[in-house]
Amino acid sequence: AVTRHHKFDVRLQNVTRLCHTKSVATVNGKFPGPPLIAREGDRVVVEVFNHVNNNVTIHWHGIRQLQSGWADGPAYITQCPIKTGQSYVYNFTIVGQRGTLWWHAHFSWLRATLYGPIIILPKLGDFYPFPKPHKEIPILFGEWWNVDTEAVISQALQTGAGPNVSDAYAINGLPGLLYNCSTKDTFKLKVKPGKTYLLRLINAVLNNDLFFSIANHSLTVVEADAVYVKPFETNIVLIGPGQTTNVLLKTKSRSPNATFLMSARPYFTGQGNIDNSTTAGILEYTQPSKKGLRVLKPTLPAINNTAFAANFSQRFRSLASEKFPSNVPQTVQKRFFFTVGLGSNPCPENQTCQGPNGTKFSASVNNISFSLPTTALLQSYFYDKSNGVYTTDFPSTPLVPFNYTGTPPNDTNVSNGTRVVVLQFNTSVEVVMQDTSILGAESHPLHLHGYNVFVVGIGFGNFDPENDPAKFNLVDPIERNTVAVPSGGWVAVRFFADNPGVWFMHCHFDVHLSWGLRMAWIVLDGDLPNQKLPPPPSDLPKC
Ligand code: C2O
Repeated sequence: AVTRHHKFDVRLQNVTRLCHTKSVATVNGKFPGPPLIAREGDRVVVEVFNHVNNNVTIHWHGIRQLQSGWADGPAYITQCPIKTGQSYVYNFTIVGQRGTLWWHAHFSWLRATLYGPIIILPKLGDFYPFPKPHKEIPILFGEWWNVDTEAVISQALQTGAGPNVSDAYAINGLPGLLYNCSTKDTFKLKVKPGKTYLLRLINAVLNNDLFFSIANHSLTVVEADAVYVKPFETNIVLIGPGQTTNVLLKTKSRSPNATFLMSARPYFTGQGNIDNSTTAGILEYTQPSKKGLRVLKPTLPAINNTAFAANFSQRFRSLASEKFPSNVPQTVQKRFFFTVGLGSNPCPENQTCQGPNGTKFSASVNNISFSLPTTALLQSYFYDKSNGVYTTDFPSTPLVPFNYTGTPPNDTNVSNGTRVVVLQFNTSVEVVMQDTSILGAESHPLHLHGYNVFVVGIGFGNFDPENDPAKFNLVDPIERNTVAVPSGGWVAVRFFADNPGVWFMHCHFDVHLSWGLRMAWIVLDGDLPNQKLPPPPSDLPKC
């Protein structure tokens, strides 16, 4: 294993898309940002300099950060933001993980332009559990906004209304030929016949799940969230924001007389504004002659095709092999039932609110809309164990349960607070997350920092604590860092609390995150020296 040093200069750069030039926050002037490439077991040291007029932090999404919680990155959870003109060194070791993850800014909505791939290769001498691909290609799904995304979210929070949407989706920063004034900004993947390519799919979009497909080609899913899965074939991939999926693309044995679009557009069941446009790249074979080629387009499911979504997510199974055994908890010490969903809060006096019926949008877990503190939770926990910054009374069940498939109550009893759950080291935990369907059923990609969770059960309607647990998969459940709570349904996950620190959990739709669909876990130190959170680095930013 080696140590890999990187320097990330967060600075403004002019970027032009859709005939619109804008100055955007970038890392080292690149949009999307540069890849971090490492091997399992390596130490990664990234010095982040902030040269923009905004606070910033960087999060290494999906990296377990075992005993390195100070490097996790979410603002006001594990660190205070890096202020303009300041820097911070993120220092962590990649333990027991290999595959595709990604990094992104974790302050407000800055991740709209500040994101890039993390590629973790197997240890030297280790091999993929599938044939070695001819080439490996990151495919980052992102967006292009003609306007400033910081203005979009701050206006939405002020008015209580739903935010505006992006002007285009993008593949590797390029919206593609289906948008106006965008033909030259089309991602092109040139391939040879008879080869296998590994595509590392990453959904970095702010507020949407995406369907992805390549015309006339099937894909073999081999990994999700940097965990190998039992391979399965599909024409269409569904990927939630925060999630990563590795697929093998086998090219045709001879160069066909055609080029093929690879397209992505949203899966969306919620209410309100949505950009339902399609980003497209081109899969192009090496050809003796490029004249007269047909262009073939893939067929994507309808925008609200929840049946496809349910089917697709059921197909994921971990390898659960001798080399990669499943460590799913067979018994549970602590059970939680979390309702997740939208709601609305009364409009403050002297304000007009543009949310539902003159209220303002909010979002919550168990009726608690989580308020970010003005100092970092991890610091308060580490130095003085709370003292008013947070309370340890996050409810383990909803305060006011109701029938989640019936008519939602008028008053959803949402209150604001910085409440956390405290777990003893190595507790085996089960969390069932239920979509409340208030203001309409909607899927929620829930992301837990510092952990992978085992997805032991998924279902529609109300979770049934009597009968559903008997059907849980405790043999080869998929392991993920970002789990879709199905639209109008529930998901059950398990994990061992084996990583001490403070860990954020939130919906990876940034709009739901901003509205409060977020909470935090404190995992206490264990007794052994290698079960304790070390003290923070000396350059940890101050609030
Ligand atoms: Cu990818 Cu807390 O985020």
